Amino acid sequence: MCGIVAAVAERNVVPVLIEGLKRLEYRGYDSAGLALLNPTLTRLRSVGRVAELETQAKDQVAHHGIAHTRWATHGVPSERNAHPHVSGDLAVVHNGIIENYAELKAELIAAGFGFTSDTDTEVIAHLIRRTLHEVPDLTAAVQTAVTRLTGAYAIAVIREWEDRIVVARHGAPLLLGVAADGVYAASDAAALLQVTRQMIYLEDGDVAELTRGGVKIVGAGGTPVERPGVESALSADAVELGSYAHYMQKEIFEQPQALAATLELIGGAQTLSPNLFGAAAPELFDGVEAVLILACGTSFHAGLVARYWIEQLAGIPVSVEIASEYRYRASVPNPRQLVVAISQSGETADTLASVRHARNQGMPRTLALCNVPESAIVRECALRFLTRAGPEIGVASTKAFTTQLAALFLLALTLAKQAGRLAPPEEALYLASLRHLPVAVQKVLALAPSIAAWAPRFADKQHAIFLGRGLHYPIALEGALKLKEISYIHAEGYPAGELKHGPLALVDKEMPVVSIAPNDALLEKLKSNLKEVAARGGEMYVFADADSSVTEESGVHVLRLPEHYGLLSPVLHVVPLQLLAYQVALVKGTDVDKPRNLAKSVTVE
Ligand code: AGP
Repeated sequence: MCGIVAAVAERNVVPVLIEGLKRLEYRGYDSAGLALLNPTLTRLRSVGRVAELETQAKDQVAHHGIAHTRWATHGVPSERNAHPHVSGDLAVVHNGIIENYAELKAELIAAGFGFTSDTDTEVIAHLIRRTLHEVPDLTAAVQTAVTRLTGAYAIAVIREWEDRIVVARHGAPLLLGVAADGVYAASDAAALLQVTRQMIYLEDGDVAELTRGGVKIVGAGGTPVERPGVESALSADAVELGSYAHYMQKEIFEQPQALAATLELIGGAQTLSPNLFGAAAPELFDGVEAVLILACGTSFHAGLVARYWIEQLAGIPVSVEIASEYRYRASVPNPRQLVVAISQSGETADTLASVRHARNQGMPRTLALCNVPESAIVRECALRFLTRAGPEIGVASTKAFTTQLAALFLLALTLAKQAGRLAPPEEALYLASLRHLPVAVQKVLALAPSIAAWAPRFADKQHAIFLGRGLHYPIALEGALKLKEISYIHAEGYPAGELKHGPLALVDKEMPVVSIAPNDALLEKLKSNLKEVAARGGEMYVFADADSSVTEESGVHVLRLPEHYGLLSPVLHVVPLQLLAYQVALVKGTDVDKPRNLAKSVTVE
């Protein structure tokens, strides 16, 4: 989604702004722009890549600037809609959505303000300028103006002749970077590692004034506040592409290390303690009688796998809800329910809002399962488990998913133990299995060349079906999501038993059918489902286990995973599906890491 970088420093900030925007490219965007003070405003904007803006800005020098990558919400991607938006002598960049923008716009038009874009952001620019008529100080005017906004925002504002940048946030991410020569702000720490590791995370409602001499922050209550400084642990290398062609490829191949790093959290323990999820976990897990999982997209699929694990191991009923649906549904709250929010970014607006909704419904036992330490969802929840996948740049989530699965399995074991359903030898066996996962995933990655050989057969297809049963049904959904996201082929995941209730009508020789066929209790039933496909001339691509009795024949192509992995099998079986989507996208020549219309962090509803 939109990305913000702002800088006020002794040095020329233009290269910092451009590099910062490049670091935010992964979030997804369609246009970019910046505004500089010298001491009057210069604004540059372009549709397309940051590289284009870089060319335009190559001769610019400034000590104050704000920059932005835009992911269109209000108005098409175009130069006139690209940020910054200007009102008289001030310029604004914005991430988020202003829900009452139409009402404010009407009010501002009536007051004589003219609009040159279709965006909600231009409303903020005019609103601040109008406020300056009564409140002449820029920081105070921003403080006053934002009280009129409904919705989510992170903004940065500059004004001609002012030696400061004013930023504010509510519901969208924004952090400050403090360096020896100035102060910087960005949507994400990755943009600022080039200048500093000292970060300050702003809270909702904060307004901050940045000058070369430092930062002053005013909290939601209107009084000055101190926010703690944090040294970012993010390694600059972690966001480098290295020898890989795409971030998605790098992230698929990083899964053994990501899993190993996440599992380091349990060290060599033979037994689990609820403290793994936070100091308050023993108290908050006590008496839990149900689990509600809230998430979107790939994280939702991780939640679906967890339902099988928690119900089977802990005997606790689990519901898994798409966050954007849950928050608007009249559900029945259960105060003894553990609410688990799963999110790679920790900034997904729907997931964040759904956790708040659950808490407002009287469910205070909230657990965040996230990959980004200081993210909004982590700060919102009473408990936390931080996966250690490292930064995930590709829009298509891969290593975040498998590490989420590892974390959810730990949760299932912990709840099972608490319910008295996990004997020590069994617990030790499961932990050993978890620790072996990095090696097992490494072996699956060796299938990459064989999967690449299948890819051209998918590339000219319009549709594909993914089948799985039981624990692997969510993996079928995830395989279909990966394929549609990056190759733009329409794909659907189905529980294989459901095929004959409708989707079988779609099967003909033009329909590739991908099946996940682990050697589990449902294998024989799945084989019957495959026969139904074969009888209709469908072309089948089967990911079996080494010992699954599925044979290669005309129209049935089989690849075997090295070993059967019991309950943890979904962690292995998703890997070939990630590779398949990646390879098909390569053949089709799509933009693998930044697929059209998508954003990495979905910070708007
Ligand atoms: C995954 O490939 C997607 N890009 C998307 O579905 C993603 O998982 C979803 O937007 C949720 O993101 P989160 O995990 O950061 O909350």
